[in-house]
Amino acid sequence: MSETAPVKRLYIKTYGCQMNVYDSERMADVLAPLGYGLTDSPEHADLVVLNTCHIREKATEKVYSELGQIKRMKQARAAEGAAMTVAVAGCVAQAEGEEILRRQPAVDLVVGPQAYHQLPELIARAHRARGERLAADFAPEEKFDALTTARRPTGVSAFLTVQEGCDKFCTFCVVPYTRGGEWSRPAEAIEAEARALAEQGVREVTLLGQNVNAYAGPDLAGGGLAALVRRLARIEGLDRIRYTTSHPRDMDDALIAAHAEVEALMPYLHLPVQSGSDKVLKAMNRAHTAESYLRLIEKIRASRPDIAISGDFIVGFPGEREADFEATLQLVREVGYASAFSFKYSRRPGTPAAAMPGQVAEEVKDERLARLLALLLEQQAAFNARQAGRVLPVLFEKPGRHEGQIIGRSPYLQSVYVSAPDRLIGRIVPVRIESAGANSLAGALQLETV
Ligand code: SAH
Ligand code: SF4
Ligand code: F3S
Repeated sequence: MSETAPVKRLYIKTYGCQMNVYDSERMADVLAPLGYGLTDSPEHADLVVLNTCHIREKATEKVYSELGQIKRMKQARAAEGAAMTVAVAGCVAQAEGEEILRRQPAVDLVVGPQAYHQLPELIARAHRARGERLAADFAPEEKFDALTTARRPTGVSAFLTVQEGCDKFCTFCVVPYTRGGEWSRPAEAIEAEARALAEQGVREVTLLGQNVNAYAGPDLAGGGLAALVRRLARIEGLDRIRYTTSHPRDMDDALIAAHAEVEALMPYLHLPVQSGSDKVLKAMNRAHTAESYLRLIEKIRASRPDIAISGDFIVGFPGEREADFEATLQLVREVGYASAFSFKYSRRPGTPAAAMPGQVAEEVKDERLARLLALLLEQQAAFNARQAGRVLPVLFEKPGRHEGQIIGRSPYLQSVYVSAPDRLIGRIVPVRIESAGANSLAGALQLETV
């Protein structure tokens, strides 16, 4: 008799932020011992998991339309006498569990972001009775305790969740409701996971948290993210450390100093500001002003002059007038971003901003978004253009689209295309940057590495 478990096909679709990407990977880890192997095609899957995002209305609506398609696939499979279990995980599961089960009968179970370690049990129970909902209790420590350190990374760069949740309650945002309060993993557990990744060839980790720089590992005696970064930087083979996403309020001096002193800490910082208008920032409950943000950027640049700054922006927050929006453009001009994400304000049920007066018309949001995007794109192209002629260390990650081409990342997170042999994948190699586009760089190997 064969010892191997029967192979069952698992299809996972991930929406939203990097934390969901990490969670999807961990769900696959949790399900592997049950015989589930990943597939790219949902129509033949025994188990479909949608790992969802609730951040904007569009993100949520996408899930329901995808579920409509999954339902048809499930029916087609049933017609062939095969079963398909459908699970909805992530932030929509947390926020709208009951509603999902009501709106889409094809869904067998719903599991929130702090409960997916219980998927094996839930799946077994779903086979007996539909409609279980597991969410709401926000106990991330239980989840992480249940997950093993062992992971099977697929590349040279990996995500590693170190912090969960948010206590900031920006008035537009659902995250404090979908992920719960701020909680940090013990540094020891993070180090063990990072070591195991490095042993499997991972050269770069990106530390993740909804407010990653609020990290306060219980075993670091108040050392915070800077102490964690210094600890991980000692791991052999782990040459690059990144972190995301940060809140300006938690950007402390120790972390700023680490950017000057820790070689492995990459010169890239995602530090969302959301708006350049103090009136809007106050209504958003952001706890910073345009001026305090600019001073902070100045301090960070004094520590690490070449750092690439990235950010998030919301246009059309309730009460945003043309002058407020102009203040955002002005702040962008003063900072000079290397990259950024901009969004039209989306009204989220249950958040304070949804009930605020002065909701902005959709056409006005569209027009402001277009102007902001144009400015940010110009800055991104300028930042990229400044790298031309420089020699940058590039961590090669994968083959390119063209024969003989490989793709890697610069320290500033730019994609770099180079003609080079595949054997350089997984290595950090000096590359002369020859040309720069808005979204990527092209370079050539320095002669001595060939
Ligand atoms: N914790 C992170 C952000 C998580 S959400 C932080 O504070 O920076 C990612 C981004 O989505 C936010 O920075 C914000 O720009 C955007 N966002 C969140 N809620 C939104 C909403 N209701 N409408 C539009 N954009 C939103
Ligand atoms: Fe949302 Fe604000 Fe928390 Fe970021 S800091 S997750 S935007 S509430
Ligand atoms: Fe979306 Fe949840 Fe991340 S709402 S952005 S998946 S924390």
